[in-house]
Amino acid sequence: MDNYVRIFDTTLRDGEQSPGASMTSSEKLEIARGLARLGVDIIEAGFPAASPDDLEAVRRIARQVGNTTDGYPPPIICGLARATRADIDKAWEAVSPAQRPRIHTFLATSDIHMRYKLRMERQEVLARAVEAVAYARQFCDDVEFSPEDAGRSDPEFLYLVLGEVIKAGATTLNIPDTVGYTTPDEFGALIAGIIHNTPGIENCIVSVHCHDDLGLATANTLAGLRAGARQAEVTINGIGERAGNTSLEEVVMALRTRAAVYGLTSGVDATQIARISKLVSNYTGIVVQPNKAIVGANAFAHEAGIHQDGMLKNYMTYEIMRPEDVGVNRSRLVLGKHSGRHAFKARLAEMGYTLNEADLNQAFERFKNLADKKKTITDADLEALVADELFQPEEVYTLEGLQVACGTMGMPTASVRLRGPDGTLHTRAAIGSGPVDATYKAMDAIIQAPNTLVEFSVHSVTEGIDALGEVTVRIQSKQPETRTDAQKEIENVRTFGGFGADTDIVVASAKAYLAALNKLIVANRAGEQTAELESPVTENSVSVSA
Ligand code: KIV
Ligand code: ZN
Repeated sequence: MDNYVRIFDTTLRDGEQSPGASMTSSEKLEIARGLARLGVDIIEAGFPAASPDDLEAVRRIARQVGNTTDGYPPPIICGLARATRADIDKAWEAVSPAQRPRIHTFLATSDIHMRYKLRMERQEVLARAVEAVAYARQFCDDVEFSPEDAGRSDPEFLYLVLGEVIKAGATTLNIPDTVGYTTPDEFGALIAGIIHNTPGIENCIVSVHCHDDLGLATANTLAGLRAGARQAEVTINGIGERAGNTSLEEVVMALRTRAAVYGLTSGVDATQIARISKLVSNYTGIVVQPNKAIVGANAFAHEAGIHQDGMLKNYMTYEIMRPEDVGVNRSRLVLGKHSGRHAFKARLAEMGYTLNEADLNQAFERFKNLADKKKTITDADLEALVADELFQPEEVYTLEGLQVACGTMGMPTASVRLRGPDGTLHTRAAIGSGPVDATYKAMDAIIQAPNTLVEFSVHSVTEGIDALGEVTVRIQSKQPETRTDAQKEIENVRTFGGFGADTDIVVASAKAYLAALNKLIVANRAGEQTAELESPVTENSVSVSA
């Protein structure tokens, strides 16, 4: 048994199944690039049968990230497929351009799933699993099989199914605790039992995939690894269905910080963690809770006097990891008003951002403007500035001007000027319950993309009255009331995240909302094109039960 743990990242598949985490194809590509730089072994890039858009997004990642020559080995690119030929065909179509493609097929094995969801007997499930794996193996040498809801499956039945899919050609056997039900002792014992009782398993990699419904996902994953699993399926920030998946950063840092306990390693470059965490949060609009382990804003903050005193004497009194180990930089005064382009570029490069000339010029201009308003520019400011500049969706509308009047006298009023896709300038004014509400109403009057604001959060990047404010919003598409029942049946309410940063939080709010609206417009356009090309998608053909 080797001691290398393969890190299988499923942020773009299980993570994207988080309520409201939909990402555009370009955002997925950018995250996949970040994951490759991070050093993950396998990227599960999506579920190609879910929609033509998903297939294309996976294909793009397979082509570009799956053949990267950026100085690190291309990761395996994996696509998920239910145990049907149609899904497997689509998965293969999507991942085949990668240098190292993988097909991941799954079928539920718990009694409750077989009886109520699949309406299949054990023998039928066994036969279908074997057939799916054998079919996938005709295309691809690397086939992963998951018995969905393994955590609640009869272990004897699992040994049987796993033994048969190994004979059919499965190379990785992933054991999911789909509903986050098991405890670490139970899950560790399940993995040990599988390794001990499944014929042929010694030639395969055993993988673990845990959900966090009881807050035990990381503990269960580590228990599975201790019991002999050598692949961990994880997501950045732990995003995923319901309470989420095991978070990559927790597993990687637990293995590293407690190396003496686990004796296991991974290929992840932990110094990239903070950066990719921010990228995922900005793109999905899912804010990381401040007390989240490793990547939360407070993960390395020391508030109590006693702790601060201890830290000053020796950081090891209260810190088991250094912030810089995970790419969190504490340096305060980085650059100022008089810093030149060269210093700016060098600092960004040190932080892991290599910008092309055009982006660098734009970012430098933003930096100079910021330096006029703010005396000291920290790494956190630079992160926010780069995120605001680079991590933005295709700009359909751009913000050309914003003016607000608010306070205790009169009605909060906003005038907004946007440039439309054809270059036309549109100006509207609106009143609202506050300056942000008025701004959003004025933007809605111009763009007219019906939506509901489901989340709005603002936080300051650093302390101080001149701090940059970061705003994250999530909006949900709203269908016109006039739609038919048939349209209602197939509609897919999607959520879009937007991010903006500025020293003026109303401007940051406007930018964040516009970013989310631009995504919604692009998705609506793509939806219209797909609707023209495709026959209606039935619920059955799009739902992922995992
Ligand atoms: O949670 C789950 O069971 C899954 C499978 C598809 C692996 O996501
Ligand atoms: Zn899952």
